Amino acid sequence: MPKTFYITTAIDYTNSPPHIGHAYEKILADVIARYHRLKGEKVFFLTGVDQHGQKVRQSAAKAGTPPSEFVKGITQKFVDLWKKLDVKYDEWAETTSERHKKVVQGILQRLWDEKQIYKDKQAGYYSIRQEQFLTDKERGPDGEFGPEWGQVEFREEENYYFKLEQHKKWLLSYIDPAGVGQDAVIPDFRQKELRNAVEKLSGDLCISRPKSRLDWGIELPFDKDFVTYVWFDALTNYISFAGYDPSVSTFNSVKERGSNGALRSQPATFRDRWPALQIIGKDILIPAHGIYWVIMLHAIGFPDDQMPQLLVHGWWNLGGAKMSKTAGNVIDPFVLADKYGPDALRYYLMSDIATGSDADFSEARLVNRYNSNLANSLGNLLNRTLNMAARYRDGRLKLIHAETPTGEEGIFDTIEGFHTPDGFVNLGDERIAKLPNACRAYIGMFDAHLVNAGIVHVFEYATSCNQLIDSRAPWKLAKDKSKQRELDAVLYHLSESLRIIAILISPVLPRAAHGIFDQLNWKMELSGKEERFSLADAQWGRLPDGHVVGKPVPLFPRIES
Ligand code: MSP
Repeated sequence: MPKTFYITTAIDYTNSPPHIGHAYEKILADVIARYHRLKGEKVFFLTGVDQHGQKVRQSAAKAGTPPSEFVKGITQKFVDLWKKLDVKYDEWAETTSERHKKVVQGILQRLWDEKQIYKDKQAGYYSIRQEQFLTDKERGPDGEFGPEWGQVEFREEENYYFKLEQHKKWLLSYIDPAGVGQDAVIPDFRQKELRNAVEKLSGDLCISRPKSRLDWGIELPFDKDFVTYVWFDALTNYISFAGYDPSVSTFNSVKERGSNGALRSQPATFRDRWPALQIIGKDILIPAHGIYWVIMLHAIGFPDDQMPQLLVHGWWNLGGAKMSKTAGNVIDPFVLADKYGPDALRYYLMSDIATGSDADFSEARLVNRYNSNLANSLGNLLNRTLNMAARYRDGRLKLIHAETPTGEEGIFDTIEGFHTPDGFVNLGDERIAKLPNACRAYIGMFDAHLVNAGIVHVFEYATSCNQLIDSRAPWKLAKDKSKQRELDAVLYHLSESLRIIAILISPVLPRAAHGIFDQLNWKMELSGKEERFSLADAQWGRLPDGHVVGKPVPLFPRIES
């Protein structure tokens, strides 16, 4: 049985409403999930919200609401946004849920029993405003703590610590270029950054907060005066909502620890899903995911070949500067989705950034890309094709078989020309051969999660179809009796190309893909259902002889500024 493709995102803090950065990450994960469904794989896409911790506690206090009420309100905003943007997840993670709490406490108890957690006293400078201990890193060039920390006092506090440093050697060997985890982080330059950070790793991780200073978290199962540190809680969501059971040992015997059989006693659903592809932003690779999370999994017995892969994306900035609530320059995805529609926003966020790099957000570029690629190129192609089919053939197509060097029809073959029921038509245009190449390039890029690089090929192909219309001039062919077969070949070529384009764009532009299928009159019975798209159908010649295409309806009306 093929395993489930398991994909996760970071879970978003519920201290403030969603912004464009959150939307980007969720859409990226949704597109990758949809692409794998398109390939016929079983997919489990998990996303959700991070509801505990100091940031949330502070925002709730500021709003004068109990934190449990406060997170409900913000959580709803995230749920509403994903619905609006057609982000279709299979499971929703909320860290205040009982199910999650049980797993976090189960893991803590186990690490405590195994003496991987210990209690210790910490003494140092503490910022009352930020509610955290400060280190020398927080000192300014003058050696003082800056005004952003407010009142700073010397404090002593007892806390629980997770023995992080003892796993440093293991982590270094795991992420070594010759190690099992040589591809643990994508892109590769982020893995190098991680290696540098791990080399400098020293000290253990404080995983508790006394309730006297933070009461909004998951209680330690072995000391009810403490809650656990928000990252220890949040990171666990990736396994708690995938069916991990902390009550059964990850491994069956000490000897088996870290070996291949180590997940054997876990529930079948969990084993079928795990490990995950985890999409995170560049700010939370070091130390949270690249160090804490991987070490946590190792400490509870996950073997090296059962570690998640981390796909690290860049950030959207504004005018070259970081977006932040305090700077007042956050972009509201609700406003953009209402103004331009979810597909326009999805297309912009997927096409104007390279996976892994940063980009600058610009509404003008969103409009520009929409008008040139969606309205002019794809929208026009659909409109012209259906108009010409209606005008010259009452919408009825003649089946044109593709001629390939192997004699077989398939997206991986080079199409040299087409057979009509009454003979071979060599369109004699090398553009025709671009479809199989575009499909191949698209698949290569999407398999590597390079969404922007993948969709470029589809839009280039749409442009070449528009060029085919210009060069073949069907309006001239229609007037010439000897060119009727060629006219049929051109109309079939354009309609069939549009059908395949709809399949390929469906992960990024699900609504437009449905629109194209509907207008082509293709598989109406599955209208609105995602299963109507399948990569296996991106094969030449599926529109049958005599198929009647529908009437054109503008798919992407131009945005006039
Ligand atoms: N709650 C933690 C993650 C816990 S995962 C176990 C968190 N939350 S967050 O709300 O601050 O960020 C959520 C995700 O959004 C992160 O992956 C972060 O990198 C991403 N982004 C936040 N701002 C962003 C941009 N401006 N651009 C792109 N992604 C951004 O961190």
